[in-house]
Amino acid sequence: MSQVIAFIGGGNMAASLIGGWIQAGRPASAIRVVELSEPRREQLASDYGVAVYADAAAAVDGATALVLAVKPQQMREACANLRVAPGTTVISIAAGIRIASLQAWLGHDLHHIRCMPNTPALLGAGITGLYTDAATPATARALADAVLGAAGQTVWLDSEAQIEAVTAVSGSGPAYFFLVTEVMREAGVRLGLSAETAARLARQTLIGAARMAETDTDVAELRARVTSKGGTTEAAVQSLENGGIRTIFNQALEAAARRGAELGQQLSGESDGR
Ligand SMILES: NC(=O)c1ccc[n+]([C@@H]2O[C@H](COP(=O)([O-])OP(=O)(O)OC[C@H]3O[C@@H](n4cnc5c(N)ncnc54)[C@H](OP(=O)(O)O)[C@@H]3O)[C@@H](O)[C@H]2O)c1
Repeated sequence: MSQVIAFIGGGNMAASLIGGWIQAGRPASAIRVVELSEPRREQLASDYGVAVYADAAAAVDGATALVLAVKPQQMREACANLRVAPGTTVISIAAGIRIASLQAWLGHDLHHIRCMPNTPALLGAGITGLYTDAATPATARALADAVLGAAGQTVWLDSEAQIEAVTAVSGSGPAYFFLVTEVMREAGVRLGLSAETAARLARQTLIGAARMAETDTDVAELRARVTSKGGTTEAAVQSLENGGIRTIFNQALEAAARRGAELGQQLSGESDGR
């Protein structure tokens, strides 16, 4: 039987995964989407030619896999309405929702896979960390790889706890680069540039540096190449090092990972009625 993937929730992240799936030449007929909002359903059907449903029961019936793509706060209620056949693959992209919670809400006789994508997935340039336990069959892993891989790269993790580290590095990561770009823009203005010129310079530098980082060359090597001895870049980098940039970033990523674990605790606490 051919694969049927039912998305529960047809919001931003679901649309980018579906768009990537179609762009990769995979069939629209494999996709069903359950979505509460009617305009959103119409949009998904017209953009991608996928089958859309207001009610989950028909969409889930006979599905090989589910992709849980509602907000974390909506997940418990969404799961309460699902009747999932044993052996179905369940791929959750919701931040903070643990596999143990999904097992409690949907059943233990399913192949649960937990993922952490990031926002560049919206452009097909994301990276997703995935985790499942050793008992999950290779076919289920391959399907999750195909769905998330349609929106960028994938990386499999050794433990569910590593999801917090992925959240800290890549999940929240785009914002760190945006913040650095903001700070550079402000510093440019302080050095005498117009706001518009400083903004253009900072933004295009982010884009240009990102493109250079797309090569196989290690980023430390890329940095070394543009940092000549006694030059301007070395002066700036030295100032950043003296200011404790490594400590600041370590603390920031630790804070993100800690917050991810706290949110997970809250959401799973709520799930058990605690
Ligand atoms: N966006 C990101 O960068 C990112 C990164 C990593 C992980 N994620 C995860 O991806 C998930 C989705 O995020 P998103 O940004 O795509 O959210 P979103 O745009 O709000 O999409 C969720 C959609 O699901 C609908 N919905 C809610 N309950 C439903 C139900 N019971 N059945 C069917 N549809 C339902 C929502 O409708 P209403 O609006 O009417 O409630 C909404 O259209 C989240 O769990 C998030 O943690 C997102």
